[in-house]
This record gives sequence, structure tokens and C-alpha cells, in this order.
Amino acid sequence: MQKQVNVGLKTPILPAGEAAVAAAVRALSEGGLVAFPTETVYGLGADATNPAAIARLYQAKGRPAFNPLIATVGDLAAAQRIARFDATALALARAFWPGPLTLVLPKTGDCAVADLATAGLETIAIRVPSHPIAREILHAFARPVVAPSANLSGHVSPTTAVHVQSDLSGRIDLIVDGGAVAVGVESTIVGCFEAPMLLRPGGLPREQIERMLGRALLQPPGGAESDSGQPLAPGMLASHYAPRAKVRLNASRLEPGEALLAFGPGMMPGVEADTAVMNLSARSNVAEAAANLFGYLRTLDAHGAHTIAVMPVPERGLGEAINDRLRRAAVGRE
Ligand code: TXA
Ligand code: MG
Repeated sequence: MQKQVNVGLKTPILPAGEAAVAAAVRALSEGGLVAFPTETVYGLGADATNPAAIARLYQAKGRPAFNPLIATVGDLAAAQRIARFDATALALARAFWPGPLTLVLPKTGDCAVADLATAGLETIAIRVPSHPIAREILHAFARPVVAPSANLSGHVSPTTAVHVQSDLSGRIDLIVDGGAVAVGVESTIVGCFEAPMLLRPGGLPREQIERMLGRALLQPPGGAESDSGQPLAPGMLASHYAPRAKVRLNASRLEPGEALLAFGPGMMPGVEADTAVMNLSARSNVAEAAANLFGYLRTLDAHGAHTIAVMPVPERGLGEAINDRLRRAAVGRE
């Protein structure tokens, strides 16, 4: 079914609950675009079987259509209708779904997801989110829902409904407000090829996956840093997570006029009384830092400093995903 884009009108926000779920399902059935919370970041949902809805979604985000979308489903059985699982993929799904893990798998012959959503690839990225509202919507809708992060393409991902509103109000049909998300960085993406490959570090730490598999995850050849062509994770454009301000990594002293994204209890030379400072985690907890990352980047960006200096964050656990997003935020701005 074709639907008119909600251009110019403010998008309604409904608090999470039965009425919001019903409204979300109705809008999705009509080809509408609905932002809803997942445990990682807010997603922008559209009916994955409806090419017109998917075309509107690319348009609303300003996202290039060669960058394929993740299909979210309610459970493993639904995932198996659209993708083929080998033994490793099954083990990963059983261990970590629902949760912040996306698997890239070969599509089934009768995969109902529109080709536009997978950018013509033979593979499909699938995830079963654990957030109760996402699960209720997926179970009630009973069809796969494509759900990229609910931000304008190139902006940092939204971790609150207000972030979604500031990027997409007037461009989408409904925002379901479930409060701040728990994880704060996007899902970990594993390609289930001959050997499992880490395509994007994310909300499920690599260590947990490797411990379960009893082996190391492969790295994508040449990294996923390229800004051109069709890398293995085509969306991993180098400057994907950029705030407006320049981002300076591994700062050990603050330069005049910079804002500071801190980590840990230490003080930083160069900080002045009027410096904008936000601390990702004063107690050096990387999970807390991940949950704060995108919101703090947005807040510091809004302060208008020309540069956000970032203190080093350790690579352990969710630190790998945090550092990945920070490097992308810094690309092209240094
Ligand atoms: O946590 C998340 O994954 C969030 C929540 C909303 O579910 N979604 C999310 O979607 O981060 P998005 O569209 O912002 O990122 C999806 C990534 C992109 O980098 C895309 O290129 C990659 O997944 N991707 C999608 N299909 C793929 C495929 N068949 N092969 C390789 N990479 C794929
Ligand atoms: Mg995104």
C-alpha cells in the first residue's frame, strides 16, 4: 500500500504501551515509517516486504540505497524463513538472540524481504531485538521489519526519542518513546561466511562471541574503513557517525576552545571553568560509557565548540565498539 510522506507535519510521539504498539502496527501495515526503541539504539521501522515503504525509508533518512538494511524479526523461526542458517549461525542465534547481535546470512529462495532492502545482495542482515517494545511490535506485526538506526544518514544514532525527533520529525509517521536505551551502540554484526567474521563491533562484545564459538572471529579483508565501493559491510562508510564538530581522539591535554568527552576519574590539563565537559564514565565502566556515548556527542556538539577532544577509552568489552564509532566520528574531520 502506498502512503504519503508526512512532510512538514510534526511527527507524533506516543509513550510506550499498548496503544503505541497498536498504532505502530497500523502504521507499518499502511506502509508507514515508525521509530521505536531497541536495546541498542532507536530503529526506524518499515514493512520489509513493502518496497514502497522501504523507498520512503531511504528517502526519510537520506540514506544511499546501496547501503542495505537490517531486517528485524520476532524470533529464530521467523529468521529462518528469510535466511539459511548453518551450524555456526544457529549456535550464535541460540546463544545471543534476542539481543544486540546481527547475523549476515544467505537469503532463502523465497525470502519475503524486498530486494531494495538488501541492496540486491544475496545475503541479508537479521537481528532479533530484546527490547520489550520492539518485541511486541514485531510479534504483533508478524512480518519482518527493516530497522536502520532512526537518524539522518551520517548523524550519530539516536538513544532517546528526542534524538529521533530532532533528526526525523516531519519525515516519519510515528515515534514510540520507550525512554533511553540500555546499550547505546548499535548491534555487533557477524558475517556467517565460511568462517564467522566480525563486520561491525557493537553492543555484544567480541570476547563473548569468541568464547562461545571457541575461536577468534575473522577480520574483514582490508578493514571496513573504505568510503567507496561495496565493502563486506557496505554501511561501514568511514565517516558514518559524524557530529558537526571536529573530533580529536586520544587527547591528553585540552586546547583552547575545545569541548571534552572524558573517560575515567583523571583530570585533564587545559580544562577551564567554562569548558563543556561530559564524562562517559567517571568510574571507567565501558558499558556505562557506551550507553552515554551518542547522547554526549550530541550534547557537546550542540554546545558549538569547534572541536570535541576525546580521552582514550580502553578496547576491552564494549570499548571496541566505542572506539570504532569514535574513529568514524573523527574521519574526514582531522
Ligand atoms: O543495533 C542495530 O543494529 C540498529 C538497531 C536499530 O537495530 N540498527 C542499525 O542499522 O544499526 P543500520 O542500518 O544503521 O546499520 C546496519 C548495517 C549497515 O552498516 C549495513 O551496511 C550493514 O548493516 N548490512 C546490512 N545488510 C548487510 C549485508 N547483507 N551484508 C553486510 N552488511 C550489511
Ligand atoms: Mg545507522
